[in-house]
Amino acid sequence: MTARTVSDDAYHFPPGFLWGAATSSHQVEGNNRWNDWWEYEQSGRLPHRSGEACRHYDLYEQDFDLARSWGHNSHRLSIEWSRIEPSQGKWNREALAHYRAVIHALKQRGLEPIVTLHHFTNPAWFARRGGWLRRDSAMLFSRYAARVVEDLGQDVRYWLTLNEPTVYVTQGYINGVWPPCLKNARAKAVVVFRNLARAHIAAYREIHQFRADAMVGFAHNAPLVVPCEPRRKRDRIAALVRDAILNRAFFYLIGARFPKSRRRSPCLDFIGINYYSRSTIRSFGWGLGALLGRVCTVSSHNHSGPMSDIGWEIYPAGLPSVLQRFSHYGVPLFVTENGVATDDEALRWDFIMQHLKALAEALRNGIKVIGYLYWTLMDNYEWAMGTDAHFGLAAVDLTTQERRPRPCVDDFKRICRENRLDV
Ligand code: FCB
Repeated sequence: MTARTVSDDAYHFPPGFLWGAATSSHQVEGNNRWNDWWEYEQSGRLPHRSGEACRHYDLYEQDFDLARSWGHNSHRLSIEWSRIEPSQGKWNREALAHYRAVIHALKQRGLEPIVTLHHFTNPAWFARRGGWLRRDSAMLFSRYAARVVEDLGQDVRYWLTLNEPTVYVTQGYINGVWPPCLKNARAKAVVVFRNLARAHIAAYREIHQFRADAMVGFAHNAPLVVPCEPRRKRDRIAALVRDAILNRAFFYLIGARFPKSRRRSPCLDFIGINYYSRSTIRSFGWGLGALLGRVCTVSSHNHSGPMSDIGWEIYPAGLPSVLQRFSHYGVPLFVTENGVATDDEALRWDFIMQHLKALAEALRNGIKVIGYLYWTLMDNYEWAMGTDAHFGLAAVDLTTQERRPRPCVDDFKRICRENRLDV
């Protein structure tokens, strides 16, 4: 599948290319009272509360109307495990019926559902009993996955078992800024990481048992990791080590080998690529500091690009190399998140355009990419950063819940509808 260029100034995307936006349950639904995030928010261990978020749990139809009117043909959402299984082994029929209605609403509007089963939040009961440190965590997760797939599987072909396992582990067990808020708990981080890998494999099998033609992957946060000073050997080594941890380890644990072996990657029908930025690594001191380095944030860095409002470097040039690299696993790629936090609408549109050009370039080079989802449909609860990070295609007035589409919506719509990018 390649993007054909009919003239020098237009890219044509492959037929059936999936266009849309991504969301996650806890960030948009509101009142997710049964998960660990809610508990930590209420007890003040997190700086911001999600509260009603975007009240998407009630307003999903109107939100999907917007997506459809913006020319999207797909939409990524996550199922909230804690709603489906609010206490261990007890299934909430109403919540299951709700998500059936949600999927139905998408289908009615011609939006292909892309469903994530775990997007950072855990049921409170699961977290209280040890969460992903538990030996049986993968089994508990796959049991939930099976329950959901039994209910929704007929209408959902694309599944993401987990969202960004590396980010989940880093933020929760190393940086200590997300539940369970543990700092430098390295041994625990390794256990959790391995259990997440087992959970992916187990859920992959459950989904396929129910639906042979399912497309199952996970969403991988895929930063481009580069040395701060390429001539400095220490920086090069630190960047390699970091890259191995951030971009290779999880694939290794689920049995996917890199570079491409003759065997197709097991337990992986496609890879969700969440691409935001580049990570520039500087080695310092001795021991771990030297080996892993740290992210260099010097703004006068000689190749530092523009920054988003939350300090993430904007680096579209990294996308083709990231796609090229993950294509070596031998399965299609799907850009399941790409977006920018900004209040500067010219910058947002430029961000989207530059990344789509980069995507088209990768397609022209023969890399198989099946879709592009902007993060996110509307401004929402951006985890520990609260509601000030504005990634949305629409702004949201948090008092009235009014959605205010941003200017880029129309330009993006043209691209989605025509499946073509004029450059
Ligand atoms: C990704 C997360 C998503 C959102 C964006 C900005 O890492 O998957 O929930 O927070 O970053």
